[in-house]
Amino acid sequence: MVIKNRKETNITPLEKIVKIFPTPYDLAKQFADELVYKTMESARKKEQFTVALSGGSTPELLFALISENYGAAIPWQYVHLFWGDERCVPPDSTESNFGMTLRKLLRKIDIPSGNIHRIKGEDDPEKEASRYQEEILRYTRERDRLPLFDLVILGLGDDGHTASIFPGHMDLLNSDKICDVAFHPLTLQKRITITGRVINNADAVAFLVTGRKKEAVVGKMFKKDPLALNYPATYIVPLYGRLTWFIDKEAGRLL
Ligand code: 6PG
Repeated sequence: MVIKNRKETNITPLEKIVKIFPTPYDLAKQFADELVYKTMESARKKEQFTVALSGGSTPELLFALISENYGAAIPWQYVHLFWGDERCVPPDSTESNFGMTLRKLLRKIDIPSGNIHRIKGEDDPEKEASRYQEEILRYTRERDRLPLFDLVILGLGDDGHTASIFPGHMDLLNSDKICDVAFHPLTLQKRITITGRVINNADAVAFLVTGRKKEAVVGKMFKKDPLALNYPATYIVPLYGRLTWFIDKEAGRLL
């Protein structure tokens, strides 16, 4: 089923859960607990667990917490890490989502290097988008002729963007591509992002949203403000999976 030009706002995923936490730390702890449970479940079935990580600043606390308190609890040999999007910069750039994850998490856990599938932000964007598409197809299950991630972790920009799908680029929500080149509307920085249909094909999608800066966008989305029709995040509606919002009290102030 292709999501074509959905203009109504009463889009309801199969299962939508909203969890609000007093602090970003409480949020990260709950998320990490659930991640341990999910990955252990896969390990028990000797199945791999594929995760697309978000970038930006919000996941930094989570990654630090996992590396400090959950490193040994997660069966990393079964976990394959991908990125939902990357900035087209080298991995040692402060802008690099991979670089941030390396510093905050990867350097501190015992995960096989073959389980780390980074987007090569330093390479030619178009070529890298198609290379990464093949990499995703090689390591993920399939449903509806699309890759099936066990979990996609997303952030939310205060303009309603998610991954690197920005307002004004809604075409990336319906794209037939698995990943594509995008650019930040203000900085024009090139990005590589997985597309909307891939996100909505996942078994689980989790938004992690913290801080007062996000209260307006969260408020508009949950109150079905017509302005939210311009937010790509509004169209993240897993077709088969669970959608969970992890929100802290500051970001959820208007709910
Ligand atoms: C990126 C992200 C992006 C991010 C949001 C929220 O590469 O920037 O993947 O979608 O999740 O912009 O960013 P913050 O967490 O920094 O607010």
